[in-house]
Amino acid sequence: MFKSWSELEQAIINCRKCLLYKTRRNAVPGEGSKNAKLMFIGEAPGAVEDETGRPFVGAAGKLLTDTLEKFRLKRSEVYITNVIKCRPPGNRDPRDEEIENCSPYLESQILLIKPLVIVALGRFAAIWLLKRMGYHCQGIMKCRGRVYKGLLLGLEVSVIPTIHPAAALYNPRLRPIFESDLKLAIEEMALKERKIPSSKPKAKPKSLLDFISLSARKDHN
Ligand code: URA
Repeated sequence: MFKSWSELEQAIINCRKCLLYKTRRNAVPGEGSKNAKLMFIGEAPGAVEDETGRPFVGAAGKLLTDTLEKFRLKRSEVYITNVIKCRPPGNRDPRDEEIENCSPYLESQILLIKPLVIVALGRFAAIWLLKRMGYHCQGIMKCRGRVYKGLLLGLEVSVIPTIHPAAALYNPRLRPIFESDLKLAIEEMALKERKIPSSKPKAKPKSLLDFISLSARKDHN
């Protein structure tokens, strides 16, 4: 577990725990708000991400950004990352040992951000998250579009798996599914935010007059 963001991001950027460091141009730690209530986890960086060091900035990323904006959310208000932080050559699927070596980075990101809701973008993220919460994902089309509540690394979270934006990009018939799953996640976040007790301090009487008027208001209520 990394205690600070700078330590964590430096470790990702300089990581040589698997052979992907040999073919990457840049590792892609993630970006967005480090106080985000809503976090998005994809699979692995693609070509544009590898070139820029930023997550979801290619064609699939544009669909994600546009869909967020449709629901009046900016990328800077959420946190976006991937299960593995380096691009697999030719965009092949991440291997088990790559996921295993990279997992401490994602675990630390989740523990530092403490999101209320996490959206799993595609099957790799869905499997990674649901396994750690004691659920089983039998294929993304079976587990998507539902709210999985529980403890993830000791944190109370709601996880909503959906299809990978690249799938929605290449098959426009899947776009309504992607949109409705994101809407579900945003609604879940709003519900959970409302349940958090307000940290606003209660009004304290400063003078006798204040005390009388506060008591009168209490009686009235
Ligand atoms: N696909 C992913 O899973 N992640 C990215 O960052 C880009 C494309």
